[in-house]
Amino acid sequence: MEIKQVMEQTLQLDGQAIEIYGWIRNHRVGKNINFMMINDGTSFDTLQVVYKELDNIDVVQKFNIATAVKINGIVKLTPSGKQELEVLATSIELLAESNEDYPLQPKKHTYEFLREIAHLRTRSNTFNAVFKIRSYVSQVLHRYFEEEGFVNVHTPIITGADAEGAGEMFQVTSLDLEQINLDDNNKVEYNKDFFGKKANLTVSGQLLAETYALSFNKVYTFGPTFRAEKSNTTRHVPEFWMLEPEIAFSDLDDVIKLSQNMLIYVVEQVLTKCPKEIEFLNSLLDYDLNQRLKNLVNAKFERMTYTKAIEVLQVEVENGVKFENKVEWGIDLATEHEKHLTDQVYNAPVFITDYPKDIKAFYMRINSDQKTVAAMDLLVPGIGELIGGSQREERYDNLLAMMKEKNIDIQELQWYLDLRKYGCVKHGGFGMGFERLIMYITGMENIRDVLPFPRGVKSLEF
Ligand code: 4AD
Ligand code: MG
Repeated sequence: MEIKQVMEQTLQLDGQAIEIYGWIRNHRVGKNINFMMINDGTSFDTLQVVYKELDNIDVVQKFNIATAVKINGIVKLTPSGKQELEVLATSIELLAESNEDYPLQPKKHTYEFLREIAHLRTRSNTFNAVFKIRSYVSQVLHRYFEEEGFVNVHTPIITGADAEGAGEMFQVTSLDLEQINLDDNNKVEYNKDFFGKKANLTVSGQLLAETYALSFNKVYTFGPTFRAEKSNTTRHVPEFWMLEPEIAFSDLDDVIKLSQNMLIYVVEQVLTKCPKEIEFLNSLLDYDLNQRLKNLVNAKFERMTYTKAIEVLQVEVENGVKFENKVEWGIDLATEHEKHLTDQVYNAPVFITDYPKDIKAFYMRINSDQKTVAAMDLLVPGIGELIGGSQREERYDNLLAMMKEKNIDIQELQWYLDLRKYGCVKHGGFGMGFERLIMYITGMENIRDVLPFPRGVKSLEF
């Protein structure tokens, strides 16, 4: 029987014989009585197994943490105890030994240490909860978009284009870098490379998702994305997952509404379906995670233009708030600015719209002021930027002009321009960093602790 089932059927099981398979999480050997806490991965809860007299008791008592066992026993309800029930073992059989040097002994470990043993850390309560929630949230997102009638498109990982035009791409090649041939102009002979041209890992599936939106109306892509930005922060990694919906016949307001509805739906679902995990993570934090999530569901999302946000921040500076980075129109908002708005000024999620064109990507729709674009970022308390999106430039001439202004490879993206020639209605979408969402929902403060096997600058383990 799975421990999940045992926990769900408590009452019916009283006095019943059951058989379970699992790993020892904790083991206390006493003079008259012995306790084993067993986890089989199906439930956040561990099952308390008590044993006194067994044929092989001498062997069993020596079992180390992480030993895999098969247990037969009788369920006994323990209403007055910490657990609702325990199992009185009639037999405990060894399935797989565990060495005594098992690094995850039942005591407090730092997240840094646990990152070094990422192949084992999921056996701890914290990471068990985090990755259960991660899995659940991924499924809920798919469900949301399915229910809303979206088509899921699997955009490719290898690409010739730079979808963000930011030049932060990892190159993909089958050329032998140790014996690279240069042509007469001292250039790499990419025509001899695998794809016959320069190739990269994608930074975003958006441009290709747009092509699907213009045939399927409402679409989304959800997959790994890669960025070779050398910022070693707690919110950036070179490999992360991004969810990108794209909707046709829509403007920036529609995009904002979609992102807000999606977020509320996901958080509501997590609150009802993962209460044990949230409650446990809550106990690790010095603030009320549960409350934060409940607040989000009913929150009034603030909305303001970039220009207004700059004004608000400037007033803060006049009132004595100190920032490391200068606040003036035209700057890219720094994390400290974003966090100040969400955590100090509004204590709520904040949509910032209409950013200066110079700090945003080439595909965003230029506003009539010719200075700003129809962009939006959603900033949330504790995290900063969770979502970035925009209405797309659907007008051929405007797009071409912006691509030239930003030195975008027009030849590589001719198909993207062409799309503007054939029934290109107004459309838009957003990208949500999946790990940032998981950080927000779990309260984990380092993005490396919500990725199963995180990659980083000068770091590639597992
Ligand atoms: O704001 P970004 O760069 O937007 C895009 O890529 C658009 N193509 C999205 C779209 O409109 N379809 O990235 C979107 C989100 C960010 O808001 C952030 O949450 C996350 O992706 N993100 C990262 N997450 C972790 N590590 C990084 N290095 C990230 N860079 C962006
Ligand atoms: Mg962004």
